[in-house]
Formats: sequence, C-alpha cells, structure tokens
Amino acid sequence: MACPENMFFLIVLFMSGVLVCFGQNGLNTTMPDRLDVLTGSCVQIPCSFDIPDQNKYTFNSTIPTSGVWIKESPYFFGHPDNVIFNSSETVNRYQGKITGNMSQKNCTTVFFNVTTSYTNKYFFRIESQPFKATDIGKSVDIVVRDLPSSPIITVSGEVKEGTPVSLNCSAVAPCPEHPPELTWTLPTQFTPKNQLQENPDQTKSVLSTVTFAPSYLHHEKNITCTAVYPVGASNKTAEHNMMLHVSFSPKDTSASISPADPVSVGSCVYLTCSSTANPPVTNFTWFQISEGKPAQVASGQSYTLNVTVGDGGLYYCEARNSHGCGKSKEVQLAIKGGGEHLDSPVGLT
Ligand SMILES: *[C@@H]1O[C@H](CO)[C@@H](O)[C@H](O)[C@H]1NC(C)=O
Ligand SMILES: *[C@@H]1O[C@H](CO)[C@@H](O)[C@H](O)[C@H]1NC(C)=O
Ligand SMILES: *[C@@H]1O[C@H](CO)[C@@H](O)[C@H](O)[C@H]1NC(C)=O
Ligand SMILES: *[C@@H]1O[C@H](CO)[C@@H](O)[C@H](O)[C@H]1NC(C)=O
Ligand SMILES: *[C@@H]1O[C@H](CO)[C@@H](O)[C@H](O)[C@H]1NC(C)=O
Ligand SMILES: *[C@@H]1O[C@H](CO)[C@@H](O)[C@H](O)[C@H]1NC(C)=O
Ligand SMILES: *[C@@H]1O[C@H](CO)[C@@H](O)[C@H](O)[C@H]1NC(C)=O
Ligand SMILES: *[C@@H]1O[C@H](CO)[C@@H](O)[C@H](O)[C@H]1NC(C)=O
Ligand SMILES: *[C@@H]1O[C@H](CO)[C@@H](O)[C@H](O)[C@H]1NC(C)=O
Ligand SMILES: *[C@@H]1O[C@H](CO)[C@@H](O)[C@H](O)[C@H]1NC(C)=O
Repeated sequence: MACPENMFFLIVLFMSGVLVCFGQNGLNTTMPDRLDVLTGSCVQIPCSFDIPDQNKYTFNSTIPTSGVWIKESPYFFGHPDNVIFNSSETVNRYQGKITGNMSQKNCTTVFFNVTTSYTNKYFFRIESQPFKATDIGKSVDIVVRDLPSSPIITVSGEVKEGTPVSLNCSAVAPCPEHPPELTWTLPTQFTPKNQLQENPDQTKSVLSTVTFAPSYLHHEKNITCTAVYPVGASNKTAEHNMMLHVSFSPKDTSASISPADPVSVGSCVYLTCSSTANPPVTNFTWFQISEGKPAQVASGQSYTLNVTVGDGGLYYCEARNSHGCGKSKEVQLAIKGGGEHLDSPVGLT
C-alpha cells in the first residue's frame, strides 16, 4: 500500500495488480538525496517526517509507531524482499537501528556492516494504528564504494606572503560514530583545528582548519590533506593534493655584468637583472651610484652601454611587481686604465 487507507480525493487505479495512488502524499519525509558510504562501515540516514494536515487526526504520536525502510520502489506489494528493515521485527534483512525518536518525528536510522549490494534507492514508511503511509515522493540514494571519496581543500581568498591564510579540509562522515581522522602535510609549522560538523542536509562532515603565514618559499609546494577512515580493524585512506600559489614581491634579485673584467672606453657592456616574483616582474630599473647617491639610468631587464669615461662605477637594479620591489646588490663596471672610478670601496659581488 502506497498511501493511507483513509485518504480522500484520490484516484485509485489498479495497474498490474499494484495499488497506485495519485494525490497528496500521506507522509512527507526529509532526508538527503544521496549518501556515499564505505563498504564495511555504517551509514546514518538523517531523517524526519511530517504528516500532511488532512491526515493529522488519524496519526496519534503517543501510539507506538514503527518505521519501515523499503528499497528500490515504494511499492513492496508482491516484493516483500524489498522491505529491508521493519522496526517491529527483531530480525531484518539489514542490520540497523532507528536512532531518532519516532514520537518526535525523527526517523534517523543507522545501518551497519554496509556492503556494495546496499547501493539502491530507499523509501521510508510508518505504520501505527490506524495510520500507515509511505512517502512515495522522496527517497535517499545510497551509494556504497570500497574506497572513500577524497576530502576537499578550500582556500580563503588570495594566498599572499605575510598575510595569514586559512585552509579548510572537509571529509564526509557517513558513519558519524567512526568519523575519519584528517591530517595535513604542509611545508610549514601549523596547528590544525578539527571538528565534526553538520551540513545543511543534516549529514555530517569532519572539518579541519589550519592557519599559517605563507612565505615565498611555499610557492608551488604541494599540500596534502589525508582522511583516514576506520573500518573494522583496518583503515581506508583518501587524500587531496594541491599546489600552493603564493604571490610575493620580487626575491633573489641580482644584477650581473658582462664582461666582468675591466673594459675599454668604446666597448659594449651588458647589465642583466634577474629576480623571481609572483606575479612576474613588470618593471626593471637600473641605477648608477653617482656621487654617493643612486641615479636612475635605464629601465628594462637588460641594459647595454657603449662605455664612456663617466660610466665606470657601481650599478644595481630594482625589480617591481604589484606586491613590491626587490633590490640587487651592486656590481662594478670597471674601465681599463681608468683611474678614479676603479677604487670604489664596496659592492663587488
Ligand atoms: C492517542 O492515543 C492515546 C493512547 O492510546 C489516547 O489516550 C489519546 O486519547 C489519543 N489521542 C488522540 C488525539 O486521539
Ligand atoms: C512490519 O512488522 C509488523 C510486525 O511484524 C507487521 O505487522 C507489518 O506488516 C510489517 N510491515 C511491513 C511493511 O512489512
Ligand atoms: C534525530 O535523531 C538523531 C539520532 O538520535 C539525532 O542525532 C538528531 O539530532 C535528531 N534530530 C533532530 C532534529 O532532533
Ligand atoms: C521520545 O520523545 C518523547 C516525546 O517527546 C519523550 O516522551 C520520550 O522520552 C522520548 N524517548 C526517548 C527514548 O528519548
Ligand atoms: C557488524 O557491525 C557491528 C556493529 O558495528 C559489529 O560489532 C560487527 O562485528 C559487524 N559484523 C560483521 C560480520 O562485520
Ligand atoms: C572554513 O570553514 C568555516 C566553517 O564552516 C567557514 O566559516 C570558513 O569560511 C571556511 N573557510 C574556507 C577557506 O573555506
Ligand atoms: C588507523 O589510523 C589511526 C589514526 O588515523 C592509527 O592510530 C591506527 O594505528 C591505524 N590502524 C591501522 C590498522 O593502520
Ligand atoms: C605534488 O602533487 C602531485 C599531484 O597533485 C604529484 O603528482 C607530485 O608528484 C607532487 N609533488 C611532490 C614534490 O610531492
Ligand atoms: C660606441 O660609440 C662610439 C662613439 O659613438 C662608436 O664609434 C662605437 O662604434 C660604438 N661601439 C659599439 C660597440 O657600438
Ligand atoms: C618603472 O619604475 C620606475 C621607477 O619607479 C619608473 O620611473 C618607471 O616609470 C616605471 N616604468 C614602467 C613602465 O612602469
């Protein structure tokens, strides 16, 4: 039977011997659309029910009500094997327990020792005196797998050097009595905070949060979140890997000069600036130290000089991106036979 026996306004049809009812459901259940479950573990189906107004007077919550789970289709007439759990029976096809309080319309149910053959659609039915009804409009899809699904890492906003960043790793906990344990692999020190939390559909997840200040040394390093699910005496593991992309101001900025040996006036000298930055350097600027003060002499990653007498001395470059700038050490341009510019005291690299 798919609907309460005393339902009004319904059209009753006989179709291949099965009584089918159209009209308002005699029972409204709330449960998740889908649950992904691990072989050998348990599954908790968060469930609550409500009786539509027109049937309320026939449902008396003080009378013991049994809960029935039916697989595949809500019509179990002619398919008694589809009734896999009946809380009035002591022996059931599925080992399980209604953990919710049925008088409070809580039909939350746990099935133990799940096997892949449990992958199916499940409908809920209540039976009391005289009220009996199945919600034919709502079912939960249970999908049983041998391996857990990967946890999910989420990152808050942009990952910048020096600005603390939070990473979340979330793993489903279909069997909340045996939730997964989450661990992180990060290129830095951290203190994770773990908690079991409830999702909007009442399923549970384990959430682990770490907060740290990224540095440019963490750029393009892998991070991993590993979920270890206890299943019986063993563990099943799933992980999520991701690469950190840290944005940072130019680092390791250095200037090089070619040729490095003293050159004659009238020959060419190449100065090249290199740096690592994320996002890449947008602007290289060259400075010559002139009378103890830096003076901008060129822009561009390389600077070519046709050497004149006044060019001898110390040079450095500056690399800039949207996050800041980096300055190189000084390099010396020495002129053959030139006098006063050769004896600069510092900065040979
Ligand atoms: C519900 O059932 C209880 C116990 O059988 C009875 O005492 C009570 O009057 C019933 N309530 C209604 C509203 O029918
Ligand atoms: C559930 O069990 C009770 C008690 O054995 C039985 O009367 C009822 O018909 C069963 N329900 C279903 C749907 O099999
Ligand atoms: C229903 O029962 C379950 C299991 O006992 C419990 O965890 C959950 O909080 C209950 N739901 C509501 C809405 O009370
Ligand atoms: C179930 O709920 C009813 C009504 O709120 C309450 O009287 C009863 O003690 C509860 N049963 C359990 C096992 O918590
Ligand atoms: C079934 O599950 C129960 C409860 O988790 C456990 O105690 C029992 O050992 C399991 N049985 C088998 C055969 O796995
Ligand atoms: C991490 O989870 C918490 C709690 O759900 C949430 O407030 C926060 O916004 C999440 N952060 C990220 C980076 O997803
Ligand atoms: C399972 O994992 C837990 C922690 O995640 C660990 O303490 C335990 O030793 C592991 N057990 C096996 C059998 O690997
Ligand atoms: C980083 O993770 C990827 C998978 O996302 C993996 O293929 C690669 O080997 C890892 N690299 C290191 C250095 O661990
Ligand atoms: C350097 O400049 C001088 C004078 O303008 C010119 O004669 C010479 O050819 C230039 N040298 C090079 C290598 O371009
Ligand atoms: C590069 O930076 C220098 C010094 O800050 C500035 O004078 C110049 O205009 C910049 N060039 C570009 C293309 O932004």
